[in-house]
Amino acid sequence: MSEGIRKGLVGVVVDETAISKVDPESNSLLYRGYPVQELAATQPFEAVAHLLWHGELPSADELAELRAEERRHRVLADEVKAVIDLLPTSAHPMDEVRTAVSALGARVLGGVSAVDAGGTREENLARAIRLFAALPAVVAYGQRRRRGLEAIPPRDDLDYAANLLWMTFGEEFDPVVVDAFNRSMILYAEHSFNASTFTARVVTSTLSDLYSAVTAAIGALKGPLHGGANEAVLDIFEEIGDASRVPAWLDEALAAKRKIMGFGHRVYKRGDSRVPTMRKALETLAEHYDRPDVLELYTTLEDEFVSRKGIYPNLDYPSGPAYSLIGFDTLTFTPLFVAARVTGWTAHIMEQAASNALIRPLSAYVGPDERHVEGYVPDE
Ligand code: ACO
Repeated sequence: MSEGIRKGLVGVVVDETAISKVDPESNSLLYRGYPVQELAATQPFEAVAHLLWHGELPSADELAELRAEERRHRVLADEVKAVIDLLPTSAHPMDEVRTAVSALGARVLGGVSAVDAGGTREENLARAIRLFAALPAVVAYGQRRRRGLEAIPPRDDLDYAANLLWMTFGEEFDPVVVDAFNRSMILYAEHSFNASTFTARVVTSTLSDLYSAVTAAIGALKGPLHGGANEAVLDIFEEIGDASRVPAWLDEALAAKRKIMGFGHRVYKRGDSRVPTMRKALETLAEHYDRPDVLELYTTLEDEFVSRKGIYPNLDYPSGPAYSLIGFDTLTFTPLFVAARVTGWTAHIMEQAASNALIRPLSAYVGPDERHVEGYVPDE
């Protein structure tokens, strides 16, 4: 490797941000200064979205205003539903969500030139709220479509988290389940310059539009080294079966040099700051659904893997089984991550646009030296 190269941008600080602070030393994550655990324990997801976009928690009036605006844009437009319906039900839901965001963007930006599409902060805030409001319908419709079920219209009397569950299952859930789900959305909302957020900022830096940036971010999040891991955790749980099989399964997986999804993190080396809160939410759900077996498998695999490799779980490890207990299909987990992270992505898009510099790094060329095409005769 050529000298000076930081492959994977490891340890490289590329810009400033006022949105969140990830501190691996103190194992903490702050959104606009507030510890994420405190926000998860006290706030509805809509209030955290406001905090990420505006820098302050909303007043009662501001929260009511955001909630009213969110309710106005909850219904999935027929044209967007028609675009989703063109996709085979075998399509990965992340492809479906990516396509839906692109279609939503094409509707909103119809007639706007590429030069103007980047928009003002006010325009981008309005677009961010529209996406935040529409994504639950996209995620819910995706799961229902794959199950051969009709879409369920939103309920104006329910807040964001309860309404997402309603549109997916057509059921009103116990408040402890809604609370656990709300916490997961807050924990997933923002995490500084992770791969998908950085992707959104790169796209924004070309003065492209918010929908293009979010579409690209969804592509980055789909990968199993990033958001796709929560889905992979459930596949692992299914492969293992029950806690008694963990040691033998781990022997085999490590001998085959497999990566154990849901463990490890680029920034945190002594544990992900979000895991204790999500683990508590998982415990609540396991108790509510009377599934101690899920918790036993979770704890056994964690203890065994940490003691053998010293690599700790990340947020995807507890969130996968939590979403499964609520009843979401495994394939719906990463789209839920999108519905949450769109708040952080759009906050970063507005921050990037406010003090923009085109993101364009350099590379060290290691290909062949200059050579010439046989038979080429230069013009006189
Ligand atoms: N299972 C087994 N070994 C692991 C794991 C794991 N989950 N994570 C790291 N390691 C090992 C690597 O094999 C490597 O070992 P080596 O030095 O002997 O080759 C060493 O730890 C360093 O790992 P890297 O992948 O180089 O570390 P990096 O900082 O690039 O990776 C990453 C972080 C990508 C998250 C990694 O830990 C991983 O692949 N984890 C599994 C996927 C996952 O859970 N992703 C979710 C990320 S968090 C989120 O999106 C909410």
